[in-house]
Amino acid sequence: MLFPELHIFPVVFGVHFGTKFIAVPNKQLCYNCPMKANKLFLVTLLLITGLVFSVHAVTMDGLVTEGEYSRQESFDKGNFKLLWLIEGDKIYFAIDAKAKGWVSIGFDPGTVMSNCDMVFGLVGEPGSVEALDTWSTGIFGPHPVDTDQGGKNDILSYAGNRDGDHVVFEFCRLLNTGDPRDKVIPTSGTLKVVWAYADKLQFTTKHSKAGSAKINIGVTK
Ligand code: HEM
Repeated sequence: MLFPELHIFPVVFGVHFGTKFIAVPNKQLCYNCPMKANKLFLVTLLLITGLVFSVHAVTMDGLVTEGEYSRQESFDKGNFKLLWLIEGDKIYFAIDAKAKGWVSIGFDPGTVMSNCDMVFGLVGEPGSVEALDTWSTGIFGPHPVDTDQGGKNDILSYAGNRDGDHVVFEFCRLLNTGDPRDKVIPTSGTLKVVWAYADKLQFTTKHSKAGSAKINIGVTK
């Protein structure tokens, strides 16, 4: 069938307008309906189009595909790319980097790493992926997981994929998690981030490279 959902939409529409339907196999017949059948069909098509475009573009599969994210910034001469997409009250991130070990992004730090909301992606191969919601308490750490500091794990979903040194780590969280161990991510303006990656997967291994930047969070391309 070309549009398998097609037959359910007239029901929704009909209920909304207080009309009644008789269901026959693969068809909906409308009676007492103030609209002509072709108008109903047009509205149904518009609803389907709206539905198709409202389905979010990010697939949590550890792969970054063309057009999946709306924004991108590149650090460390292109070795560490950060991509993101804001959708409703959620934000989806992808780190696409050249790194043998963990990758991490931190939001709104104080001095160097202090008071920084950090998310670590520990992506091994094949199929071993861990995401850590952490908070750096000191200028150079430590950065225990939020759950060890009275906070909660606010990573809603994540995925990763490794091919040698090439690692992709995706995760999703609420813009405002309500957790004091997370920073609120704004939907417009600039946001200071810190990025880092290491040669080892161990969470306690220091980064081989790290840096900071201000990104334009809400601007769409
Ligand atoms: C076990 C993990 C970590 C340790 C032990 C650690 C330790 C340190 C230390 C000692 C410094 C001082 C400069 C240096 O010695 O290179 C530093 C700097 C820095 N760290 Fe970390 N860090 C860790 C994780 C992170 C993470 C996850 C991020 C970001 C998400 C980060 C971001 C930075 C930045 C931006 C700097 C300043 C830039 C620089 O001087 O290289 N660090 N870190």
